[in-house]
Amino acid sequence: MPIVSKCSGLDERAALYPAQLLAHFDDSFIVSFDLFEEYVARLTLALFRSTGLEAACRHETTASEALAKAGLSPDVALVPVSWMLALLASRKWIEVTISANGDRRYRAAAPMPALDADEILQRQQAHDPRCLPSFAIAALAATHYPAVLREQVSGEQALFGPEGILPWVKYFSNDNPIYAVSNKVGAIAAARALPAGEAAILEIGGGLGSGADTLLNELESGAPAARVSSYHFTEISPLFLSRAQRNLSARHPHCRFQFSALDIDHPFAVAPASYSLVYGVNVLHVARDLAATLGELRKALREDGMLVMAECVRPFPDAPLHLELVFNLLGSFRDAVLVPGWRPNGGFLTPEQWTAALIANGFTDVRIFPDIAAIRDAYPSFIVAAIVARRA
Ligand SMILES: C[S@@+](CC[C@H](N)C(=O)[O-])C[C@H]1O[C@@H](n2cnc3c(N)ncnc32)[C@H](O)[C@@H]1O
Repeated sequence: MPIVSKCSGLDERAALYPAQLLAHFDDSFIVSFDLFEEYVARLTLALFRSTGLEAACRHETTASEALAKAGLSPDVALVPVSWMLALLASRKWIEVTISANGDRRYRAAAPMPALDADEILQRQQAHDPRCLPSFAIAALAATHYPAVLREQVSGEQALFGPEGILPWVKYFSNDNPIYAVSNKVGAIAAARALPAGEAAILEIGGGLGSGADTLLNELESGAPAARVSSYHFTEISPLFLSRAQRNLSARHPHCRFQFSALDIDHPFAVAPASYSLVYGVNVLHVARDLAATLGELRKALREDGMLVMAECVRPFPDAPLHLELVFNLLGSFRDAVLVPGWRPNGGFLTPEQWTAALIANGFTDVRIFPDIAAIRDAYPSFIVAAIVARRA
């Protein structure tokens, strides 16, 4: 996310970002974000070698052919290897040709650059060490890539085993600016979307509670204020849920909380038509069957209730996002029910796909905040947004 626009070569942030968001995309944040992208790209380069893909790409090859040559599992490796090749090609470190039927063939022709990921870590340490938890999660994923791609261990076991707990606690935190920005964008979008008056909120995939904390702070400080009458916080992981309950109850002692386990891939055990806002930060994209989950969210909402989901939005179809280095290891991210038109892949979607998905599943007045479609030519790395829609 260089500060200057790819269209004009000038700093166009003030023209393209809503004023409320500008402060959160300041120069310092953008330096950290750029360093994170560079770090992930360098880790990917190293993995390209260590997994045998570089040797497999000596001659022009598809992702499926390359992973077979490298002895990786076709079931697990197709999505991560396709992503790795697309990312390296986007950096022009390998060549890509796209045939008339859309097949991509890759070749590692020129000698690959020798780029040290740790050098970037040191630069981030000097620039803003608060962002290092994002780098640690990328490093954790990279460590496990060879074993996961050979199906010796699942991505879930690799990332969420005992050694993963502390890195995730530090990552999903408002002390980590690279993660906190999603909470902030979601909270500002929700505060704008809610009418003044009583608000009954249901949060899905609330994790350790950093998103709820930011949302409650935003609503408490806003004017005209939506007054939170109840906050139903849900999460699939019992460990995260109990930590969130402890933290949120201490930080917001006057809030009427309810805490419960909820898996967005199953029917929700919540009272129908009882919430004015359904909210989530970086969770809805993992829904295995997005139509079914949107159906449950819609059912939970009162008439005219609002859905606000902070998400990483893919700027263009097939554009590889750096964060996918981590999440492509997870079966829940790769194995979604696909729907032509709006669910072409598991994980992150484009603005057009989100809009079509919501309209197809009983929502209206869909907006993306900020408007990624208007920003993406100038700032293609700008991917943090909130999907906002009203129950139709
Ligand atoms: C990006 S994190 C959200 C973090 C949260 N905003 C916080 O502050 O900690 C996504 C959350 O979704 C949860 N999750 C993943 N799959 C889920 C599912 N099927 N149902 C509900 N939650 C899920 C994860 O456990 C994780 O806590």
